[in-house]
Amino acid sequence: MTDNLFPELLKTHTWPDIQGVRAWDYTLGGGGRHLIDAIIRGQKPRFMLEIGCFLCASTRRWLSLDPELKVVGIDPWDSSLIDQCHRYVGRPALSRAYPDIVVQKQFAADIESQGPFASALANLRGFEDRFVPVRDFSPTALYKLKDAGFEPDLIYIDANKQAIDLEVCIALWPGAQITGDDWHWGRTKGYPMRQIVQAFADIHGLTIEADHATWVLHRT
Ligand SMILES: C[S@@+](CC[C@H](N)C(=O)[O-])C[C@H]1O[C@@H](n2cnc3c(N)ncnc32)[C@H](O)[C@@H]1O
Repeated sequence: MTDNLFPELLKTHTWPDIQGVRAWDYTLGGGGRHLIDAIIRGQKPRFMLEIGCFLCASTRRWLSLDPELKVVGIDPWDSSLIDQCHRYVGRPALSRAYPDIVVQKQFAADIESQGPFASALANLRGFEDRFVPVRDFSPTALYKLKDAGFEPDLIYIDANKQAIDLEVCIALWPGAQITGDDWHWGRTKGYPMRQIVQAFADIHGLTIEADHATWVLHRT
């Protein structure tokens, strides 16, 4: 990947106006992200692809770890996230982050009035030159990024729990390390993401490291 591609991607995927937009550093992640931190700190990937960013709390975490890291994030940031955030009010996860119900209601009201896209990017204030927001869906957006010349070293999948995201990533970027979230999700449904990752690892001869929600695939 050429050094000037990232600035090109920034030009074609512009940030919304985040002036005066309130940031909410609220993550939907379920633990174990120290595994990803270790890769970022140890292997120093230059380019990371995140599929499913929500309010960019995870992205903020990655970017804060290494001043050289650049991230491309794919998310539609569509209005379904507004209803989703309203549904979180009073629930355990949001209550743990913001114990005061008034703050929880302000959170949901802000995501609605500011919009999910501006709210998410406000959370990355200060990282304007190191994050490209791709407002689109995976896997379609993956092909477009490949066509544009983007080559990630590290991929983090935290979207819709689809096997196709993993399959397209390895087909397009066989050298990239693939990781993600949702390992622990859906106990009553038989842990669907775990099944997807295990089947994928078997087919491609990869080994899995997992902790809480986080999974990492290693080449043996
Ligand atoms: C669990 S949240 C991501 C959480 C985020 N990584 C964090 O730690 O806070 C899932 C996100 O995936 C996005 N999403 C759903 N389907 C997607 C798709 N096909 N491609 C990209 N993003 C998608 C949703 O809009 C949502 O913001």
